[in-house]
Amino acid sequence: MRKPVIAGNWKLFKTTSEAVELVNGLKPLVNSANHCEIIVAPVFTVLTSVNQAISGSNINLSAQDCFWEEEGAFTGEVSPRMLVDAGCSHVIIGHSERRQYFGETDEMVNKRLKAALKSGLTVIVCIGETLAEREANNTFDILRTQVSGAMAGIAAEDLKGIIIAYEPVWAIGTGRTATDQQAQEAHAFIRRLIMELYGADAAQGIRILYGGSVKPENIKGLMGQPDIDGALVGGASLKADSFAAIVNYDK
Ligand code: PGA
Repeated sequence: MRKPVIAGNWKLFKTTSEAVELVNGLKPLVNSANHCEIIVAPVFTVLTSVNQAISGSNINLSAQDCFWEEEGAFTGEVSPRMLVDAGCSHVIIGHSERRQYFGETDEMVNKRLKAALKSGLTVIVCIGETLAEREANNTFDILRTQVSGAMAGIAAEDLKGIIIAYEPVWAIGTGRTATDQQAQEAHAFIRRLIMELYGADAAQGIRILYGGSVKPENIKGLMGQPDIDGALVGGASLKADSFAAIVNYDK
């Protein structure tokens, strides 16, 4: 059985006091949720404060990116072991906003993934097609390229530290969610790709999250799909009540 994951990607929002207020509001609303793993991913500067605030709770901490070197002359970067030091158990890599605005390539995603796994982080690897790619019927080709690029040189035993997030770019922040069927179709395809690369057991074990305008109103339908194992939530994770309603989709 794959344990579902509900992760909140806070993007470039929340100062320290706002972030602490948000998790303090969230804690009592989700403290009885043990049907899923709960993750929040704030900006680097507030990780330590959020880590203190969630101590002893069922909320896990993720960063939104990491560099691939442990240390060195790399001004402005943050390494996986520094994230572990700040209390992170997870890190998101390859988010479409990194790909779109900061020149992230599949090769860079692969390097970050290897480094993060080495530090013991669980990695949420984001993939997904743009609207132009979907309209040109290239969705599956893009997903194949992104999965094989991210996974290059990754061994089967490393898969337990990897979660995939399928986030169609046209659904992110647009209010336009993929339909349950569109999401399921892409997730089933991604699971088949993992089967081709690593075999049936690995494919059955890996968790694939959906992301893109997930809200309390659409989470139930998405979670009802056989290959959707959770959600990566942006906008709706910035308020305790809406994120809690998504976490508590089983109620
Ligand atoms: P959204 O963002 O829920 O605001 O669409 C999802 C994401 O980018 O992870």
